[in-house]
Amino acid sequence: MAEKNLDFDRIIDRRNTKSIKYDWIAKKGMPEDTLPLWVADMDFQVSSYIQEALARQTEHGIFGYSDVQETYFEIVKGWMERKHGWKVSEDWLVKTPSVVFALALAVKAFTEPGDSVLIQQPVYYPFQNIVDVNGRKMVSSDLVYEAGRYHIDFEDFEEKIVKQNVKMFILCNPHNPVGRVWTPEELIKLGDICCKHHVLVVSDEIHQDFAFERKHYVFADLKKEYGEITVTCTAPSKTFNLAGLQLSNIFISNPEMRKAFCRQMDLSGYGEVNVMGLAACEAAYRDGDEWYEAMRRYVKANLEFIKEYVEKNIAGVVMAEHEGTYLAWLDFRKLGLSAKELEEMMVHKARLWLDDGRMFGKSGEGFQRVNAACPRKILEEALLRIKQAVDEVRKA
Ligand SMILES: Cc1ncc(COP(=O)(O)O)c(C=O)c1O
Repeated sequence: MAEKNLDFDRIIDRRNTKSIKYDWIAKKGMPEDTLPLWVADMDFQVSSYIQEALARQTEHGIFGYSDVQETYFEIVKGWMERKHGWKVSEDWLVKTPSVVFALALAVKAFTEPGDSVLIQQPVYYPFQNIVDVNGRKMVSSDLVYEAGRYHIDFEDFEEKIVKQNVKMFILCNPHNPVGRVWTPEELIKLGDICCKHHVLVVSDEIHQDFAFERKHYVFADLKKEYGEITVTCTAPSKTFNLAGLQLSNIFISNPEMRKAFCRQMDLSGYGEVNVMGLAACEAAYRDGDEWYEAMRRYVKANLEFIKEYVEKNIAGVVMAEHEGTYLAWLDFRKLGLSAKELEEMMVHKARLWLDDGRMFGKSGEGFQRVNAACPRKILEEALLRIKQAVDEVRKA
C-alpha cells in the first residue's frame, strides 16, 4: 500500500462538514466569501493510512468502550524516539481527549485557587483562559519583540516568579503564535530558574513536529531534574490534522505528579478516550512518515512564500522571524490603525478571518496570526486580499 494523499494543492470544499473553521463564518455574520485562516487545523486530507484505519474501524461497526493494546504505546514511543530522540516509558503516559483539557487538569492538580501561574504572552489564548476560569492568577512574562524576532527576558521571568510567588509555568514550545523554536540554551535557562524556585512546568509541545529552523528539544529531556517537575503535552492532532478526533498523549515521569494528575481526571468523570482517535494515532505514528515529510515541506514552502510576498508586496507589514509551527505572525503596527480598525480591515475589506493578535494577550495588539496549512492558491488569494486592503487603507 502506498500513500495516496500527497496532493496538498488540492482545494477541498470544507463547508457543511461540521468544520468550525468554515461553518462558523455564517454564524459570526462574516461576508460569505470570507477565507478562514484562523483556527489551527489544516485544509489537507489526512494520510491515506489514517483514512484506511478509520474505514476499517467503521466497517467493523461497533464503537464500544475502548482502550489500546501494548502496540499503541510502542508506536507512540517509536515516533517520540525517531523524531525527537526522546525515550519515554509506558507508565508515564496518560491519554486525554485534548491538550487544553490536560492543561486544565494540571492547573487543578498542582495549584490552589489564587496561586500564580506564569505564561509568556503573546501566547495561545487558552493558556490565560484556563488559568482565569480556574480562579488562579495569570502572570505574564511577555516575550520581547526586537528586530523582527522574539526572545525571552530571563530577568523579568525570574523576578515575576519570585515576586508573584509563581507555582506553575506553562511553556509553549514551539511557540504559538510567535513561531519561535526555543534553543536548548534558552530552555535550560528557563528550566534552571524553575528548579531553583520550585516551579512546576507544563510543557505544551503540540507543535513539536513543526520545528523548521532547528531540531525541537523536549524540555523534560534536557536534564533529569526537569523530568521530575514537568508534564509534557503531545498529540498527533496538529501534525496529522486530527483535532476533531480528540486524543492527546500526556507524559509525566514523576509518579507523584502523575497520580495527582490522574486524580483530577477521575474527578472530572472522564474515562476512556475516543476509539477513532486511538486508531488514527496508531496509523499516523506507524505509517504516516511519508505524508508527514511531504506535508512539512509544503507548509514550510508556504511560510517562506508568505514572508517573501509580504516583504515584496505589502508595505508596512512585517512577518516575525519564523522557526516553527504552521502559523505566521504578521505585524501591522506600522499602519497606525487602532485594534478595531485593523480587525474591520481584515473582516470587511480583506474578507479574511485570521486570529486577531489581541486574543493572545495585550502584547499581541497590532498583529494577526495566519494559518499557513492550506493549499498555496488559497494562501495567494489571502495575501492578495491583504495587499489590496492595505493599499486602500494607506491611500485613504
Ligand atoms: C499550543 C497549543 N496547545 C494546544 C492546542 C489545542 O490542542 P487540543 O485541541 O488538543 O486541545 C493548540 C491548538 O492550536 C495549540 O496551538
